[in-house]
Amino acid sequence: MTALLDVSDLVVDYGRGRTAFRALHGVSLDIAPGECLGLVGESGSGKSTLGKAILGLAPVTGGRIQFDGREISGVSGRARRALADDIQVVFQDPYGSLNPAMTIGDILVEPLLTSGISAGAAATRVREMLDRVRLPSTAMERYPSEFSGGQRQRIAIARALVRGPRLIVCDEPVSALDLTTQATILDLFIELQRETGVAYLFVSHDLGVVRRVCHRVAVMYRGELVEVGEGEQVTRSPQHPYSERLRLASPVADPVAQRERRTQWLALREVRDAVVR
Ligand SMILES: Nc1ncnc2c1ncn2[C@@H]1O[C@H](COP(=O)(O)OP(=O)(O)OP(=O)(O)O)[C@@H](O)[C@H]1O
Ligand SMILES: [Mg+2]
Repeated sequence: MTALLDVSDLVVDYGRGRTAFRALHGVSLDIAPGECLGLVGESGSGKSTLGKAILGLAPVTGGRIQFDGREISGVSGRARRALADDIQVVFQDPYGSLNPAMTIGDILVEPLLTSGISAGAAATRVREMLDRVRLPSTAMERYPSEFSGGQRQRIAIARALVRGPRLIVCDEPVSALDLTTQATILDLFIELQRETGVAYLFVSHDLGVVRRVCHRVAVMYRGELVEVGEGEQVTRSPQHPYSERLRLASPVADPVAQRERRTQWLALREVRDAVVR
């Protein structure tokens, strides 16, 4: 089967000349239709940069990004806006990502207006989306400030889904939520994927989160992918020392096991520097 998204040798440089900073050093990965690919790695490793490059929001200096067999990395203007039919995004911050001055109805209708559908059909579609994310249709008259963090993330997910995209870049979409809310929102992501066949690039620093939702997991370290594999394998018995360090850095409930992890994690610090660079 052809990949939905095919990224190869992607290079992203921020800035120019002497102050230029290379955030991605030739990253290659693919995502199949309906697949969830997790992207993990420490802060500053380039996870959001990869997501932004796919969305046309980061400066691509080299390599290719193909969506459904078509090159999209240099695309801008009207063609880029048209790509929003297929590629959408959900960000981490459920407070900052919704316009506080707009009702939920307006927030959800807005992405549909450019597609030229009638007001009636748009309203029907918006109600259907609210239902999908388990919010009452009365939410349409209300403002973002009237909702909890988890509910706002449901609204952001509904907005991402409303045009029927084939890929959603999810950048730490549950990191700002408490653990119970995280679990219900992750289940919602899984259910929506089953129902709609949408693919996700699911960025998270939390291995437990990606294990729950992702089919495969890619590990990023300093702008390079160091390991890609099945979710269970990468999150439980990683091959690369850096992935192992990430595994050991994620906390466990049992204090004895946690102490053991910390010792192993500290021991692996040296290995990381010796092996990777
Ligand atoms: N607009 C920008 N201009 C210059 N440097 C940037 C810009 N955006 C990101 N960077 C740098 O690129 C590197 C990768 O950043 P990125 O945001 O992709 O990391 P990340 O893996 O998403 O981290 P986090 O887990 O903290 O969100 C970092 O060193 C960051 O400082
Ligand atoms: Mg980030």
